[in-house]
Amino acid sequence: MSCWQGIINQYSEFLPVSDKTPVITLLEGNTPLIKAENLAKEIGFKGEIYLKYEGLNPTGSFKDRGMTVAISKAKEKGKEAVICASTGNTSASAAAYAARAGMRAYVLLPKGAVALGKLSQAMIYGAKVLAVKGTFDDALHIVRKIGESYPVEIVNSVNPYRLEGQKTGAYEVCDALEDAPDYHFIPVGNAGNITAYWRGYKDYYKKGKVKKLPKMMGWQAEGAAPIVKGFPIKNPQTVATAIKIGNPYSWKNALKAAQESGGSIGAVSDDEILFAYKLVASCEGVFCEPASAASVAGLVKLTREGFFKNGERVVCTLTGNGLKDPDTAIRVCEEPTDVPPVLEKVVKELGF
Ligand code: F0G
Repeated sequence: MSCWQGIINQYSEFLPVSDKTPVITLLEGNTPLIKAENLAKEIGFKGEIYLKYEGLNPTGSFKDRGMTVAISKAKEKGKEAVICASTGNTSASAAAYAARAGMRAYVLLPKGAVALGKLSQAMIYGAKVLAVKGTFDDALHIVRKIGESYPVEIVNSVNPYRLEGQKTGAYEVCDALEDAPDYHFIPVGNAGNITAYWRGYKDYYKKGKVKKLPKMMGWQAEGAAPIVKGFPIKNPQTVATAIKIGNPYSWKNALKAAQESGGSIGAVSDDEILFAYKLVASCEGVFCEPASAASVAGLVKLTREGFFKNGERVVCTLTGNGLKDPDTAIRVCEEPTDVPPVLEKVVKELGF
């Protein structure tokens, strides 16, 4: 077939798969790279901004890129069940790909700290869902222990196949731009994705497919910024629940990505995140979840500080779809105005 067949088929030469690997796919990847001219104008950025809109993956987040590889490899090994801890997106993706593979999925979520859309996904795809009265970090700790002792494959990013799949996001950016960008802005939670993108850019550079490497710019939420602060946070707090993580698994690799590339990892406040979240939706028509907007918040912040020269090309990964967390959108916007079903009243209310 000539149409898109998912990231394993597209990028098999770069992935740890063989003819023997059963490809479990929902045709993830091939997400749009949207040029954001209105946003650039609005924030006074004198170059090109592109949004890698990962919210259009099959379960609405970038996790599907990693999950197709992790679940395919688990299937190849004959595993019958997978397990993960999650702030929501990993569990949605694991549950969907496990369903497709005919495998059982077990997911541990921090109780009361997962956006409802994501919770509904894990449930409807048929996972066994446990709400842990603790943090994501607590849940991941337990999952890792279970993985050591029971016949179940961990599909958190402690599973190396996850990052292998996720690096294909960088390939797609390069394929679309015909080179790497100058800067890549990305939210940081458990710190897997920044690690994966950096690996992807380096793969393409080594193959001679791009002439340069981007500076990797990672962004944590201020109340959940262990990497920026330099120590684990016991009780992380942020409106961006997807990145509410106090002790990221890929901490060292994220720092390495920032340092090797000449980039950095910074923090943005919840107010800055919510400002960027509304801005990208209202001026570009792109609805992402709050955690995703941390990348744009970082870009807004550095633009205001006069960090950039003219003519630079920046890509922001928008990691997840805004529809996963409608509660936050409704909370930060003006409520709809009630009107009676009367033409004159409606016209008046609309201001015509
Ligand atoms: N953005 C979204 C929407 C996420 O769901 C996550 C992570 C990140 C950014 C951060 O990516 O962890 O690779 O640094 N979500 C994980 C989960 C933790 O369980 O769904 P990271």
